[in-house]
Amino acid sequence: MMNIAVFASGNGSNFQSLYEATQSGQLKATIKLVVCNKPEAYVIERAKACGIPCFVCSPKDFPDKAAYEQAILNELQANSIDFLVLAGYMRLVGPTLLQPYKNRIVNIHPSLLPAFPGMDAIGQAFDAGVKVIGITVHFVDEGMDTGPIIDQQAIRVNEEDTRETVEARIHEIEHTFYPQVLNKLFQQLMVK
Ligand code: GRF
Repeated sequence: MMNIAVFASGNGSNFQSLYEATQSGQLKATIKLVVCNKPEAYVIERAKACGIPCFVCSPKDFPDKAAYEQAILNELQANSIDFLVLAGYMRLVGPTLLQPYKNRIVNIHPSLLPAFPGMDAIGQAFDAGVKVIGITVHFVDEGMDTGPIIDQQAIRVNEEDTRETVEARIHEIEHTFYPQVLNKLFQQLMVK
């Protein structure tokens, strides 16, 4: 089984759904660690409640990004982590993590990339008035939401939708889509 670390900066609802999918067997992987860069993030409480160790590591406690990521890398290696799953991790990943985990870091983004990368993707899409929005799971590279796309799910925006209803629908779908896509990906990687 794949040992994974989930990276999150905020609420952690995707961490929660991934954890539940590992418990039900829908996601055949073990979440060994949560990595969080925000000491006040709710995901820390969630990890505690699930009994998953959480490494809280604030970039401002380090002289530079390389030193920050080296501290994370040490923790990942100490926990024998094979694969990094970003779920609401609000930082760009640098070479210190990208090199040792080449093709082994994925992210979920709430838009049909390459449309609407970056912050507040749902708000950007809603303001642009697009009628089909969606979710992308992609490999992570040094860019902002730019790595190779693994899978996407389109979602229609209806007349009666508000920004809030669209947002709620996206999050609900993310919670089943991400575990499914990861499970498929891990199966393929295990066969190779
Ligand atoms: C999700 O919408 C995800 O697509 C984006 O950040 C959000 C994280 O939500 N990258 P949560 O912290 O998992 O609740």
